[in-house]
Amino acid sequence: MFKDINGIRIAYTDEGQGAPLLFVHGFPLSRATWSKQVAFFKANHRVIAPDLRGLGESASGPGPVSMSRFAEDLHDLVQRLSTGPVVLVGHSMGGYVALAFAMAYPNALSGLVLVGTKAGKDSPEVAAARRATAEKVRTEGVSVVVDAMAPKMLSASHADPAMAASVHGFMAASKPDGVMGALWGMADRPDASARLGQIRVPTLVITGADDTVIPPSESVILAESIPGAQLTVIPEAGHLVAFERADAFNEALNGWLESRSSAPGFRGTIS
Ligand code: MLT
Repeated sequence: MFKDINGIRIAYTDEGQGAPLLFVHGFPLSRATWSKQVAFFKANHRVIAPDLRGLGESASGPGPVSMSRFAEDLHDLVQRLSTGPVVLVGHSMGGYVALAFAMAYPNALSGLVLVGTKAGKDSPEVAAARRATAEKVRTEGVSVVVDAMAPKMLSASHADPAMAASVHGFMAASKPDGVMGALWGMADRPDASARLGQIRVPTLVITGADDTVIPPSESVILAESIPGAQLTVIPEAGHLVAFERADAFNEALNGWLESRSSAPGFRGTIS
C-alpha cells in the first residue's frame, strides 16, 4: 500500500487487527526486514511497517533526511491510518528515528522497543566518514554501502548463505538518493542521551549478543537510562537480530507485550 505523506509516496504494510505495532527498519534496509514479525504479530495486533522515505519502495526527496523528518513522516502516517497510540519498534537507524518520535510525539506512543540501536550522536570522524560515503554513493552507486554493511548484519557464529543473500538483496534494492539522504541525516543527528530519562512509556531494549555494528553495551546504556526499561539480549544473533533469530525475537517481544498489561513498571534484567 502507498500513501502520500509530506509530498513523498510512502510504501507500507498494514495487516491484522488489535493493539497497533509500528515497525521501523534500519539503514539501508526496508520493511522487508520485518516480514517475520508481520507474519507472527498480525494474528493479535494491527501491524504497520513502512519503508522510510528514500528506502525500500518509498520515493525519495532531495537532500538530507533528518531523523525528525523520518519521525514526522511516521507520525503523519499513523494519524492518516487512525491507529491511536502505537508501540513503536525501531531497529538501528529506525531506533534513532524512534527516539526522535518519542521526544516529539510522546502522546502518539503506547510503548517503545529499541532494537540494536543507541542514543548517542556520531563522533566528528564517523560523521565525516558518512558524508564521504554519501559522495561515493553519488559517483559509484549504493554498492559502496551494501558491500561494506551486508556482511556485518548477521552473527558470525553461524553462517546461513540464504539468509545472507536475502539481507544483501534488501540493501541492494536501496536507491542512491535515499541512501545519501539517510547518511547525511544520521551524520547530523542530535545526541538523545540526555533526554532518555524523559521517556515515560514502557520500553523494551533488544540486542543481538553478537552485534558488531552497534555493540550490546549501547543497549545496556539505553536500558539503564530509560525509566523502567527492560533489556533482552538474544544469543547467537548479530545486528539484524529480528530477522536472524526471528523466533527468539518474536517470543521476547510478545512476552513483553503480554506482560505490560499485567505487570507495569518492571525493572531491567538481562536474559
Ligand atoms: C543501521 O543498521 O541502521 C545502521 O547501521 C545505523 C548506523 O549506521 O548508525
